[in-house]
Amino acid sequence: MNEMENITILGIESSCDETAAAVVLNGREVLSNVINTQIDIHKKFGGVVPEVASRRHIENIDIVIDEALSQAGITFDDIDAIAVTYGPGLIGALLVGVSAAKALAFALDKPLVPVHHIMGHISANFVAHKNLEPPFTCLVASGGHSHIVEVEDYGKCRVMGRTRDDAAGEAFDKVARVLGLGYPGGPLIDKLAKEGKPDAVQFPRVKMSGDSLDFSFSGVKTAVINYLHKLEQNGETYNKADIAASFQEAVTDVLCEHTIEAAKRSGSKLIALAGGVASNSALREKMKCEAAKHGIDTIYPPPVLCTDNAVMIACAGYYGYLNGERADMTLNAVASLDLEG
Ligand code: KG4
Ligand code: ZN
Repeated sequence: MNEMENITILGIESSCDETAAAVVLNGREVLSNVINTQIDIHKKFGGVVPEVASRRHIENIDIVIDEALSQAGITFDDIDAIAVTYGPGLIGALLVGVSAAKALAFALDKPLVPVHHIMGHISANFVAHKNLEPPFTCLVASGGHSHIVEVEDYGKCRVMGRTRDDAAGEAFDKVARVLGLGYPGGPLIDKLAKEGKPDAVQFPRVKMSGDSLDFSFSGVKTAVINYLHKLEQNGETYNKADIAASFQEAVTDVLCEHTIEAAKRSGSKLIALAGGVASNSALREKMKCEAAKHGIDTIYPPPVLCTDNAVMIACAGYYGYLNGERADMTLNAVASLDLEG
């Protein structure tokens, strides 16, 4: 790879319910990180309403970009390239970031670098761990995705396992909803679970046939829902903290087991966590402890770089820029986008 001195990237992210822009120097030094989250707006609906998200992105995108430049103490002239998430995600939401990035690239006559959202999540680890280099094994678990990948090089990874139904974060959000905790569910379950017993209820851990490392989280979600319905029908009370802890235990057990197995198969000595679910305290602790038994280290970014942000997009964009990846004005948003190839 052709390393150059002082490359300043403006990253733009709008794939779900965060409008974000950030300026990152040489892929790893954060000059600004602006995130406008719409959580309070979507909360009352119990989840993200795509049309509402798109409109909010439109209202906020210019403000967020200006703020990112201003916090970094730079102007548009100082930027070397613009990196933008073009998929996967909500199509209307993605389009706002992609259109803004295209407009800027055209007006400023600067290169435009397309970034895969999941590659962005993985790249948050490069920002958090300045000496990190591929290869390593990465678990990317968020509200929309759950993948185990071998990161072979910057911007290049091999998928070793993925969810066949719900994403891990989606399961957290749905279980939180039936427990009446609110949205987004992950952080609320994480907090409540600290007061509960993880072995109070034995929820299922789904194992695929053969040697597949794929996940299935819809079963455990349904098991929790059925369990609660049964108790309610019988007029029995239950301890929400115990349910939260037991559900979290079941999900994190599977995430850890499959990821450690993937690392062993790749001969990897390092596991990185990424995505919103990577801020889960039980997952972090368990992965660290269980992986260590196999001589494998575990790292993760701080929570603010686990959930959606544009620093991770600018970082991934930096490596894409060095690799010569460029998009032209035909770049479009793509709702479903494979990670490989
Ligand atoms: O990466 P992200 O911000 O957006 C997507 O790309 O989907 O992830 C959001 C997801 C939500 O499902 C949220 O409930 C989950 O990450 N999450 C957590 C925690 N913090 C966020 N899940 C479990 N424990 C947490 N502490
Ligand atoms: Zn995400």
